[in-house]
Amino acid sequence: MYNDSIATEVIFEHNWEDLIDNIPTKVFVIDKIFFNLHRDIIIPILNNDPYYLFDAKESDKNITNLIDILSFFQKEEINRAFHIVCIGGGITTDIGSFAASIYMRGCKLVLLPTTFLGMIDASIGGKTAINFQGIKNNVGSFYCADQVIINSKFLESLPKLELINGWAECVKVALIDGNNFLTKLSANKQKLDDFIISEAIKIKNDICSQDPFDNEKRQLLNLGHSVGHIIEVISNFSISHGKSVAIGLKVIAGISYAEGFVSQSRYNKILKLLSLYELDFKQQFEVDYSIIYDILKQDKKNRKLMSLVLFSEKSVFVQKMTLEEAVALIKKHIYN
Ligand SMILES: NC(=O)c1ccc[n+]([C@@H]2O[C@H](COP(=O)([O-])OP(=O)(O)OC[C@H]3O[C@@H](n4cnc5c(N)ncnc54)[C@H](O)[C@@H]3O)[C@@H](O)[C@H]2O)c1
Repeated sequence: MYNDSIATEVIFEHNWEDLIDNIPTKVFVIDKIFFNLHRDIIIPILNNDPYYLFDAKESDKNITNLIDILSFFQKEEINRAFHIVCIGGGITTDIGSFAASIYMRGCKLVLLPTTFLGMIDASIGGKTAINFQGIKNNVGSFYCADQVIINSKFLESLPKLELINGWAECVKVALIDGNNFLTKLSANKQKLDDFIISEAIKIKNDICSQDPFDNEKRQLLNLGHSVGHIIEVISNFSISHGKSVAIGLKVIAGISYAEGFVSQSRYNKILKLLSLYELDFKQQFEVDYSIIYDILKQDKKNRKLMSLVLFSEKSVFVQKMTLEEAVALIKKHIYN
């Protein structure tokens, strides 16, 4: 257990039921699929507390369902004495945390992430969001959970595709950090356990605590994501987020090598790491210059100059460039 400077306490606890039991007044927002798979362990912790089941599809992380959750809180006469406990993947914790951040100007928030990505990424760093008018995560808040409780046993029911999403983010933070965790991940394929989860959380937490409101250092966490986002959009979201980010990491490695920011040895090591974690995917779509341009332009993070995160020999860095320069680089490397 440790605290970080942006006030989220992360607890690794297989006896998580006791921690929930000790919360005096609570309301639950629970991922419906997770609930149905784990009824035997979830129903006993609910007692008579109110719970809202959420159908966790990306298209449902929207304003209509946000209003539905807030209406549920109001109907159940939830007040600021309550803890809002969100149990689920990143979709559920994103919308549930956003509701917690605005209901009665903010309620106490506890997260029990149930996906690998949720544990190491979505529940860490205090970003909450819904998608709005076709733009992903365009409306939200910065609101740190009071507690994040990690129970890696939840991951036993997670489909392989969801594990890939988590590994892509895990490998990403190791590459950003460039220290012992990267050495450990690169030595041989690690099994997913509390050590892996806690190391990945520490790296994200450390970066977020230096830049809680995403003005500078947090941009490093976008490694592979600008290209990943292009892949997601052009595939009409048929290529998963994790796979898209993995392709993004490969494209960025190619750009960094071609532009002379990394040696051939570092480039090869990045590709070997992606392959070790079965993240070595090929980009299969023909992409026009203008499509890449439009997608990057629409991305809320990109104004006149965009920040592309590139690899350096030991870590990563932000390279500012015009959209045109970024598109030319990405277009050149997206098929390699
Ligand atoms: N707030 C942040 O900083 C942040 C960071 C990264 C991603 N996100 C957001 O997180 C979302 C993606 O989260 P995700 O990858 O966890 O996906 P998710 O929430 O969609 O969960 C993936 C699928 O797995 C199911 N599921 C959840 N737990 C399960 C379990 N233990 N066993 C079996 N099935 C389970 C869900 O019902 C869903 O169908 C995106 O909306 C993204 O924008 C937010």
